[in-house]
Amino acid sequence: MNNIQLDQQGRLKHFLGIEGLKRHKLIEILNTAASFLSIDAKAVKKAPILRGKTIINLFFEPSTRTRTTFELAAKRLSADVLNFNIDTSSSSKGETLIDMLHNLEAMHCDMFVVRHKAGGAAHFMAQHVAPHIHIINAGDGQHEHPTQAMLDMQTIYQYKKDFAPLQVAIVGDILHSRVARSDIHALTTLGASQVRVVGPKTLIPKGIEELGVKVFNSLKTGLRDVDVVIMLRLQRERMQCALLPSVFEYFQYYGLTEDVLAVAHPEAIVMHPGPINRGVEIDSTIADGKRSVILQQVSNGIAIRMAVMAMTLGTIPEQKEGQ
Ligand code: CP
Repeated sequence: MNNIQLDQQGRLKHFLGIEGLKRHKLIEILNTAASFLSIDAKAVKKAPILRGKTIINLFFEPSTRTRTTFELAAKRLSADVLNFNIDTSSSSKGETLIDMLHNLEAMHCDMFVVRHKAGGAAHFMAQHVAPHIHIINAGDGQHEHPTQAMLDMQTIYQYKKDFAPLQVAIVGDILHSRVARSDIHALTTLGASQVRVVGPKTLIPKGIEELGVKVFNSLKTGLRDVDVVIMLRLQRERMQCALLPSVFEYFQYYGLTEDVLAVAHPEAIVMHPGPINRGVEIDSTIADGKRSVILQQVSNGIAIRMAVMAMTLGTIPEQKEGQ
């Protein structure tokens, strides 16, 4: 399914998902993003790498972090960016997604960054746009959120320097989480020693072990000795029926507190893709504590999004395998 994101030379044409990408491609994204961190740190945060390119953000679902960091990343690389307002568009008058795309294409844009509630929406768009248009998946339903996974990998690398020895726990609503799926593909491809998923049985998808993870239903057992804890929000907007007795009970059994975190490695870091729900999956003492790298994840989102836009648009030289 993901092969359509590579051209015949193996370069990124679209960025639709982590599944199916080889380790060297993930490393290339991380290396490219690392080279962009210096732009973000300068007084004049600007480079001409995407000058003359037009990028349209198409967000059919709400977003704070992803939409804003895509816009900042594009502007820092000198692209022209348009945030298309779905609510005031002609989609409410019955225009189909494909007709909307073809009309936006006629305005000579180069890239669509898309978030959609339907899994597979970004792939669908990539199959229907003109050959010169690039699609980046900014989160599709419960399927994938590949730029979130890459900014998570960059954050882990900054703190831990090597993926091989790491034990990583992803905790909470795995069933509805596109971040969990993309993180699992990224961590297993980059060679993490063990990836665990932790949560109540009702929120763990059947057969997830096939992705190379170990399942835990007890939080304290699942967090024992881990190096990285990735907490997830309960995605109640995607739940079709009551999968939990109550939010209060959820926090009692699966909320991250100082007491629970004590079983992890003493230098374990705590991550969360956001938005966080304090007192539901995470206690404020942890979210704001010294082991939390949650805001560093947000900052890294800019460099990662610069990297995938520059790579897919072909405006920087490709790194060959082994470089
Ligand atoms: N992590 C994430 O996707 O956040 P937003 O929904 O705010 O973009």
